[in-house]
Amino acid sequence: MRIAINTGGGDAPGLNAVIRAAVLSARRRGWEVIGIRRGYSGLFGPGGIVSLNERSVRGIAHIGGTILGTTNRGSPFSFPVKQPDGSVKMEDRSDEAIERMRALGIDCLIAVGGDGSLRIASELAARGLNVIGVPKTIDNDLAGTAFTFGFHTAVQTATDAIDKLHSTAEAHQRVMVVELMGRHAGWIALFAGFASTADAILIPEIPHDPARVAERIEACWAEGREYAIIVVAEGAMPRGGEASYLDKPALGGGRRLGGAGKQIADRLEELTGHETRSLVLGHLQRGGRPIAYDRVLSLRFGTAAVELAEQGRFGCMVGVDPPLVHAVPLAEAIKTLKRVPVDGDIVRAARAMGISFGD
Ligand code: F6P
Repeated sequence: MRIAINTGGGDAPGLNAVIRAAVLSARRRGWEVIGIRRGYSGLFGPGGIVSLNERSVRGIAHIGGTILGTTNRGSPFSFPVKQPDGSVKMEDRSDEAIERMRALGIDCLIAVGGDGSLRIASELAARGLNVIGVPKTIDNDLAGTAFTFGFHTAVQTATDAIDKLHSTAEAHQRVMVVELMGRHAGWIALFAGFASTADAILIPEIPHDPARVAERIEACWAEGREYAIIVVAEGAMPRGGEASYLDKPALGGGRRLGGAGKQIADRLEELTGHETRSLVLGHLQRGGRPIAYDRVLSLRFGTAAVELAEQGRFGCMVGVDPPLVHAVPLAEAIKTLKRVPVDGDIVRAARAMGISFGD
C-alpha cells in the first residue's frame, strides 16, 4: 500500500498527532506514506510531495500547526491560478490533481480537514479516488462525530482567557465582552462560557435581544457583583438581525465573520451605562499545543483511518461516539452543519446556573 496524507482548511491543534499516528500505524504494516503539502496545492508544484516515515513524525504529537502546511484556498475544483497580468483566476484543476495522485501510485488518501476539505474529499471519492476523512476543526461543527479534534484545546484556551478577564473586569467594575470563533455554530462559546461561568453566552443558534442581556448585567450589579462577563460567538446575531461581517473580504473572496463582540458591547454600554469593553480572542484559539484530550483523540483518529484503509472502507470519515471511535460515510458528515441543540443538556445546565442566552 502507498497512502497519502494532507491537511486542509484552517489549522487546529492535533493535526500533527493525526499525522504521526497515521504514519506510524501505516509503517508498521509495511506501507509507504507520502504527505501532500498545503492541502492539495502540493500536487501542482515542485517540492509539494514529501515522503513520511518514523523519523519525520518523531516528537510532533504535542506541537500545534501542521508539518504539512495547510490552506483554505486550495480546492482542486476551484484553484487560484495567477494570470500573466497578475490577477488571480479560480480554475478547476481536479482532473490534473487526480492524474497526479494516480501517477504517484496513491492507493488511499487520508484527508484531514473540516467541512470544506471533507467536501473536496467526498467529490474526489465520487470521482473514483480511495479517500478516508479525519474530522478537524476547532468549531466542532462537523456531523458524524461528537467531537472534532482541536475543539477542546480551543475551548481550554478560551476558558483560560475568560478566567483572566474576571479579575480585571471586577477591578474596574466593567462589562467585558469576549468574541470567540466557531463560524455559524456556538460550540466554543457555549463550552468556554459555561466552564468560565460567564453571565451571558450569545450563540448563533439562539438569536439574542440586547435588552435581555442588559437585564442580566443589571442583575449582576443588583446582586452586589459589580462586573459582568459576556461571551459572544463570532456568528451570533440579534433577534431579527444577522451575523456581523468584516468590511474587508478574505483574500480570494468571501465574507469573513467579525465584529459581533464590538457591536453588542457598544449596545450594552448604551443600555446599561456601565463601561463595556470588548476583545476578540481570534487565532489564539487555533494556535499552540493540543491539550491531552485532543492529542488522544487525534492519535486515535489517525490510527483508525489507517485501519479503515486496511479494511478497504473508503469514502468514510472516522469519528467519535464516546467512548468509541467509529466510521461514518463522508457524505453524511458533510450533509449538515452540526449546531448546538438549543434544548440540549449543556444549554439547560447553563440556564440553571443563571447564565443568560439573551433570549
Ligand atoms: O473554521 C475555523 C475558523 O477558525 C473559524 O472559527 C473562523 O471563522 C475561521 O476559521 C477563520 O479563518 P481564517 O483564519 O481563514 O480567517
